[in-house]
Amino acid sequence: MIGIDREKCVACGACVRDCPVHVLTAGADGFPGVRPEDEDFCLNCQHCLAVCAQGAVTCHDVGFADTLEVAPIPGGAAEAALIRQRRSVRQWGKEPIPEEVWTRLVDSLAWMPTGCNDHRLHFTVVRDSARMEWFRSEMSKTAQKVVRTGLLKLFYPGFRRYMDEIMRGDDVVFRNAPYMIVASTPKDAPCREADPWIALSYFDLLAQANGLGTCWGGFAVHAFKWIRRFRRALKIPKGHMVGAVLLFGPPAVAYARVTRPSPMPVDIL
Ligand SMILES: Cc1cc2nc3c(=O)[nH]c(=O)nc-3n(C[C@H](O)[C@H](O)[C@H](O)COP(=O)(O)O)c2cc1C
Repeated sequence: MIGIDREKCVACGACVRDCPVHVLTAGADGFPGVRPEDEDFCLNCQHCLAVCAQGAVTCHDVGFADTLEVAPIPGGAAEAALIRQRRSVRQWGKEPIPEEVWTRLVDSLAWMPTGCNDHRLHFTVVRDSARMEWFRSEMSKTAQKVVRTGLLKLFYPGFRRYMDEIMRGDDVVFRNAPYMIVASTPKDAPCREADPWIALSYFDLLAQANGLGTCWGGFAVHAFKWIRRFRRALKIPKGHMVGAVLLFGPPAVAYARVTRPSPMPVDIL
């Protein structure tokens, strides 16, 4: 599973120190290796590969040639501005998202962290406008039925204030967004609740850093959990549950000021 090229390895021990599950150990000669009985515990997190400056490590068939140069990452102030200025957008423009931005967003999904490096997240990106319209109109019909039958009041009493909007045909679930991304996890994933939200939170920040607007689809998560034909249309794999939904597109609103949210308590011990 983990290969060490002894021609390149300088036995510095960096990979041994950084292995989170301690399957890499230094042998008597100082070179790292994995005991056969430990191989199954390897998470394939590729820390050994990432930390090796010599390019001596191969992890699950991924080697130096498959890796990228590390690039500078934004400074602390820029990151903090991104967090402070990120807003939920519900007004959308019509201009297309540049192809390189699509590529950057979609490619980044492979790097999302998952509990125990489970890596079985599944993403569905709805990019086709006709498909998005299908979800919108089907959702509107279904939501109106749920209001008429009294099920909304019964199961989601807190959502009563949306009843008039739903009956008017407003898109309260997808907020008229042109695109959405849905993350699902296998029901037996060790961190099945957290993984989808974390992945789409990263996607959220990356999208906003690339000039896009985003809005969490909390209602959509509920709708997809209840309604199987939506899950089918989203190609959610068998045995997966929908975890998180993020709506996105070009924004048609610009925020002039950074606001001051009510503080949440932080204990620094
Ligand atoms: C878990 C979660 C679910 C949400 N679901 C929805 C939703 O279904 N529809 C919506 O319009 N906004 C939704 N939001 C957005 C919140 O309303 C929004 O984050 C909050 O009002 C603060 O505004 P801001 O994001 O611009 O700071 C959701 C946010 C979170 C964190």
